[in-house]
Amino acid sequence: MFQSLQALPPDPILGLTVAFKADSNPNKIDLGMGVYKDEQGNTPVMKAVKQAEEKILQSQDSKTYVGPTGAADYNETIAKLVLGEELLQSLGKRRVTVQTPGGCGGLRLAAEFIGIANADATVWVSDPTWANHKPLLGSAGLKFNSYPYYDYESHSVNFNGMLETLKQIPQGDLVLLHGCCHNPSGADLSPEQWEAVRDIALEQGFTVFIDLAYQGMGSGLEEDVFGVRLLAASLPELIIVSSCSKNFGLYRERTGALTLICDSDGACATASTLLAAAARANYSMPPDHGAAIVQRIMSTPELRTVWDQELKEVRDRINRLRSQFVQKLNEAEIARDFSFIENEKGMFSFLGVDKNQIKTLIEKYSIYLVDSSRINVASINDNNIDYLVNSLAEVLTDQA
Ligand code: LMR
Repeated sequence: MFQSLQALPPDPILGLTVAFKADSNPNKIDLGMGVYKDEQGNTPVMKAVKQAEEKILQSQDSKTYVGPTGAADYNETIAKLVLGEELLQSLGKRRVTVQTPGGCGGLRLAAEFIGIANADATVWVSDPTWANHKPLLGSAGLKFNSYPYYDYESHSVNFNGMLETLKQIPQGDLVLLHGCCHNPSGADLSPEQWEAVRDIALEQGFTVFIDLAYQGMGSGLEEDVFGVRLLAASLPELIIVSSCSKNFGLYRERTGALTLICDSDGACATASTLLAAAARANYSMPPDHGAAIVQRIMSTPELRTVWDQELKEVRDRINRLRSQFVQKLNEAEIARDFSFIENEKGMFSFLGVDKNQIKTLIEKYSIYLVDSSRINVASINDNNIDYLVNSLAEVLTDQA
């Protein structure tokens, strides 16, 4: 039965990490996978996380099951982090949050739920979007279409194009937005643009679905959820999938959440039973450790302070690297304007190099990036920035 199976190509992001690890070039740089790296190129466990883990180790007295929707206190903590206290109060029982196995698990659970709510729904994703959105949501049987998002010429959001398409999307369909730090482009909506999207969503009646994987990695914990909160305050329905992979550095602990806002308390109570059943049917229950860490940090004032400070350092470093990279690129006198990189947010930006140039960067220089030319800015450091800029200068001026 298994003999007829055809092998699949490597995952476009994960496959790159494998190739990078196998490369023996001491100058190699991994600009591929979106994990934060410090100046030494490491992805360390955050101090607040370590301290929380120590406390959990000392105090945890059972590992019995928690339940399909995860830990209730964690769910409320995440809802507060994403929506803020005031909005949370005003939404009351129209909102439910369930713990999920990472953001990916949350997206997959959301896809199951959408399929139950409307099997004919089309999910409109940004063009471009994260390479795993379609595989993840599509595996639950959802259909896709896309709206224009990034203009590669002007290196900014093609907002007119986006609006024109959103104006055609009917009730019953979903529009997937990136809450902040758009992956792969780094180009985010401005507050005015979020307001315009809100107005069209109200007019058209489609359901907005937000992937919030980078809260706190762009401009700040509060600033990064401006759009999320705006929509949560004004739309009758909303799906928000949030992740603690990046902002708590909990990648492998698979710590995420799905927050659902419904137009009535009753609809939300019904939806909660469907979410719990979908979780049970898929993975039974989310893993506990990461959620327990987040809950410990957020409920312990000293740990919260440590985490806030660490997250700020991460964010500030990424933003500093963006400026430093642009400055070095300018100094290298490459005949191109890279200033957009400085204005974009989060870990990613497009370098704007073509597929052949990417091939050369990988094969000749051991500089690894995905074939959309997305780079993880957090992989740049003082030791590799000159090699990176010089290699790029060579590739782009055809001296390679
Ligand atoms: C990325 O986009 O590189 C990250 O979100 C990691 C992943 O799972 O793809």
